[in-house]
Amino acid sequence: VFDISRLGGICSKGLTLEPRAGNEGIRIWETPAGVMNSIGLQNPGVPHFIQHEMPEMLKLGPVAIANLSGSTLESYAEGAKLLDKTPVPLIELNISCPNVTKGGAAWGLTCQTAQSAVKAVRSVTSKPIAVKLTPAAANLTEVALACIDSGADALVIANSFQGIAIDIESGRPVFANVKAGLGGPAVRPMALKNVYEVVKAVNELPENKRVPVIGSGGIATWQDAVEFIMAGASAVEVGSGTFINPFAMLNIIDGLKAFMMRKGYASIEEFRGCAL
Ligand code: FUM
Repeated sequence: VFDISRLGGICSKGLTLEPRAGNEGIRIWETPAGVMNSIGLQNPGVPHFIQHEMPEMLKLGPVAIANLSGSTLESYAEGAKLLDKTPVPLIELNISCPNVTKGGAAWGLTCQTAQSAVKAVRSVTSKPIAVKLTPAAANLTEVALACIDSGADALVIANSFQGIAIDIESGRPVFANVKAGLGGPAVRPMALKNVYEVVKAVNELPENKRVPVIGSGGIATWQDAVEFIMAGASAVEVGSGTFINPFAMLNIIDGLKAFMMRKGYASIEEFRGCAL
């Protein structure tokens, strides 16, 4: 559809050690200002990814990122061990998938569980790890700091918010798992608040302990990206925005560049975190 080499990075679908067929039933449900998903981590498994998808991703130019999910600490560690032997430059450690009954977001709910997942992966790989957190954590900032303490090199704030949709004709929940992940513009102000709060807390750490925060949650326009950078994000992820506009990411890059020229910014560091 477009020249993908213009992007900074591309991230795989959430990978698990073993292949997964994903969830039964409806997987995508549009809402007035967003989209709900219940994919259930459908993926071919880490070994298949390493053999087939990763080489193609690496050829494309942008930083290729392997998103690693798991149900047990052992499966996270085994997946990370396999990725460690590959040229993939970055692992996004997914402890935030809202759509699986075992593991997934459960790992990101508390400092203790998040730390155990980060440590399990940290102990088997020297690759940089960006930990993708869940907004369902009771205290997201504390979980974020705990992940840094356990060896996270970056944080992704954050995955989708849990919601429910009901089919009013059948009177039943739309999704087989009842709950699903909500993304898109509806969640953006909440995701922005989470980034703002986490960056504020990270900035209070000694300089050598600070890590970059990647903003995620309803970013669909360059103005959204500017807001997240002004809240302290070092980069942004775009997901559901591309379903509405396949060129959303290019529009963001072009719009950001034009904004920076208009404002006389030579780098995003010149306005990153200015709203804090
Ligand atoms: O259902 C899913 O596969 C979602 C994954 C995620 O949000 O990480």
